[in-house]
Parts: sequence; C-alpha cells; structure tokens
Amino acid sequence: MLNKKKRNLFVRKNITQDVLKKTGLEKSLTAFSLTTMGVGAIVGAGIFITPGIIAAKYTGPGALLAFVLAAVVCSLAALCYSEFSSTIPLAGSAYTYIYAVFGEFIAWILGWALVSEYLFSVSAVAASWSSYFQNILAGFNLHLPSALQAAYGTAGMPHAIFDLPAFVIIMVISLLLVGGIRESARINAVMVILKILVIILFIVVGLFYIKPANYHPFLPFGMKGVVSGAAVAFYAYIGFDAVSTASEEVKNPQKNVPIGIIGSLLIATALYIALSAVLVGTVKYTKLNVADPVAYALHFIHQDWISGIVSLGAVIGMTTVLIVFLYGGTRLVFAISRDGLLPPIFSKLAPKTHTPVLNTWIFGIVGSVFACIIPIDKITELVNIGTLFAFAMVSLGIIFLRRDPEFKDLDSAFKVPFYPVLPIISFILCAILMLELKLFTWIAFFIWLIIGLILYFSYGYRHSIARNQ
Ligand code: ALA
Repeated sequence: MLNKKKRNLFVRKNITQDVLKKTGLEKSLTAFSLTTMGVGAIVGAGIFITPGIIAAKYTGPGALLAFVLAAVVCSLAALCYSEFSSTIPLAGSAYTYIYAVFGEFIAWILGWALVSEYLFSVSAVAASWSSYFQNILAGFNLHLPSALQAAYGTAGMPHAIFDLPAFVIIMVISLLLVGGIRESARINAVMVILKILVIILFIVVGLFYIKPANYHPFLPFGMKGVVSGAAVAFYAYIGFDAVSTASEEVKNPQKNVPIGIIGSLLIATALYIALSAVLVGTVKYTKLNVADPVAYALHFIHQDWISGIVSLGAVIGMTTVLIVFLYGGTRLVFAISRDGLLPPIFSKLAPKTHTPVLNTWIFGIVGSVFACIIPIDKITELVNIGTLFAFAMVSLGIIFLRRDPEFKDLDSAFKVPFYPVLPIISFILCAILMLELKLFTWIAFFIWLIIGLILYFSYGYRHSIARNQ
C-alpha cells in the first residue's frame, strides 16, 4: 500500500541535499561564457523577423516601445529567475525551482510547458534558419527541389513537403553538443560576436538614411497596439532563461548565473531598441510587413551587398539560438529524467564527454521532425505561451521561496529588489501578455498539457524518485 508521502501529488524535492551533492556534469562555464550563451539564445530569428511585422501591424513607427515593454516583462522575470538560480543552482531551471517550492505535480506541468518552449523554439528557429539560408543560396543561383524547401502546408509554397536544411542544421548541432559543452560554448562565443557586429553594421548604415517624416505619426494604433506588439516582441527575448538551465555546469553559480542572465538581457534590449528605431526611420512602417524586414530595408536604401552580409549574420545568429535551445532542452529533459518522471535513458551520461548523448539525439530528432513537417507560423504560436506560463510561475514562486523556512539555510547571492511588489507585477504582466495570444494558441497549449498529464500518470507518478524515497 502506498504510504501518505507516496500518495502526495505535491511531494517536494529535497533541494538542500541536491544543491550540496556532486552530480557528474562537468563545471566549465564562466560569467562570460554564460553571457555569450544568453545573447546567443536571445538574439536570433526574432530580431530578424518581428520588428517589421510589429511596426506594420501593431504599433507603427513606435515599434521600439513594444520592445521596451517586452523587455520590462522579461527583466522582471529575469530578476526572479536570478534569485532562484542563485539559490538553487541545479540543472532544469524553472522546473527544478518549482519542484522545490510547489511540489511535483505543478513542477511536472511547468516542466512539460518548458519542454514545449525549447522543442518548438528549436523547430521554429530552424525553419527560419532554413529560409534565410536558402536566400543566401539563391544569391548564388542555387535552389533546392521545391519539395525539400519547407514544411508541408507552408503559406505560399504549395509543393513543399519536408524542410531539408532545417533537418540538417539540427542534426549538425546535436553532433556538436554530444561532443561536449566546452567546445560548443567556444564556437558559440565566436558566432555571438559576429552576430552583434552584423546588427551594429545595419544600425550604423541605416542611421545615414533616416527620414524624420517616417516617425510621424509615432503611435497610429495607440497604446493598445504597443501591448499587442509586446506580446509578439516577447518572442525575440526568449532565451535568457536557458542560461539558468546550465547552472550545474557553472563555476561559482551563485554569482555568475545572475550576471549571465541580466547581462545578456541588457545587451539584447539595447540592440533591439536601436535596430527597430533605425528600421522604421529608413522605411515607412506601412511597407514593413515582410518576412525579412532588415534585408528589405537595406535593399530599399540600395545597400545590396550589406544586405547579403546581414543575411549571413542572420543565419549565424539563428545558429547560436539553436545551439542554446538544443542545449537547454536536453538539460531540462535530463533533470526531469533524473527525478524519475521520464525514463532513465534521458539522464544517462556518456563516460568520456559527460554529456547526455542519447537524450541529445532524441531531442534533436523530435525537434527536427516538428520543424520539417509543421509550418513555422503554427510552431511559433506555441513558443510564447509556454514561456509566459513558466515566467508567471517563477515570479509567483519567489514569494513562496522567501516564506518557506526550508530554504533559509541556502546561500543566495542575489535577491529580487522591492520584494514582494516586483514579483507580483512580473506575474501580472506575464498574465496580460498571455491574454493577448490567440485562441488557437490556447487550445494547442491545452492539448500539449493533456498529453503531459497522460505521460505523468502513466509513467512519472509511479517512478518518481521523490515519491519513492
Ligand atoms: N529569442 C529567440 C529568437 O529571437 C527565440 O530567435
């Protein structure tokens, strides 16, 4: 017969024990590699695609205000993430924090929502990577057969069946990751620097072509447009949370994880504000509803060769996003499996590289299958809702973390300022942005959660380590 503890759906993990014990993952990451990892995760498909759509459809020339609002929401959530990750530096990010604070059942739901964030982000960014990559190939007059250019059902591509470049890039990055984190972090740092240089190149060149008249009227759709625009702009900031999934592989995590999270968010915010301000200054916002607004603006001002360089930069930028999301996703699944909620195959480490090899391949293959068969617009819809859900839970979790005597003994190098006002505002802002998302997204998210519940009650509930201790 199950005893009382085993029956309890809300059994909590003994975090104090886990924080102090060695886990087997190699500690090789520094504050610098975490910040580059954060910028690598954040700045990618979003900045090369969303500012034009936001300006044309939601805000007008005031698109930068949507990026500012999205940055505010993310910074508040980032502060809450930082307190959690500096108190509980374990793999699994928000999933692990919520396990400690709200117990297993809520942690599973949140972990499952986060798996959707990472998996669908990998798929969505790989699909964008594929289209920019094919733009570059087209510049050399090279074309793939139409059946292999995009996923079946992609708008405007009636012959598309399978997105071959998206599949290949995910497989290549999986190979890189199974080789060990140290090498991947180094390659990532070089690509992040290139990506930033390309964005700065656009900003500097664009500055010379700004027409002040393009800024009037600044907010033709009012503040309502700014809020709706922020729900879309939010996509461009997703990724800083991936930094906290690496906590177990960081030297001095109590100090370095908050530096990595907040530093990378600040860099991304500065780049986005500057890029969107220049973009709407060079081209009238009504013309910007295109898939590649940055390249479009450069063509518009007759800077075709710079447009080529920027497209190359976009491909590089998206590659780093893919690296971090594949990395973060596999470490999240690793943590869930280590707790017994997913089969042990997902937390098996290779003896030589200390990386979860099988887990990485399975995650990569599933992510690439989604990227290759589901159109990009459908996948991106799901990324934001899972992430906002996680951010809302983490914000609320801080209040419970502070009130719980169990966590009093753990060192926490970073504390959220203006407690409890700031976590509460963070929770409310996440909820407001969630309400801006479409009905389709909500339905798809509920279906995903139902699949998660079936998995939990058929496997995790019986195999949970916390319940069977
Ligand atoms: N923030 C990530 C990107 O923009 C998802 O590509």
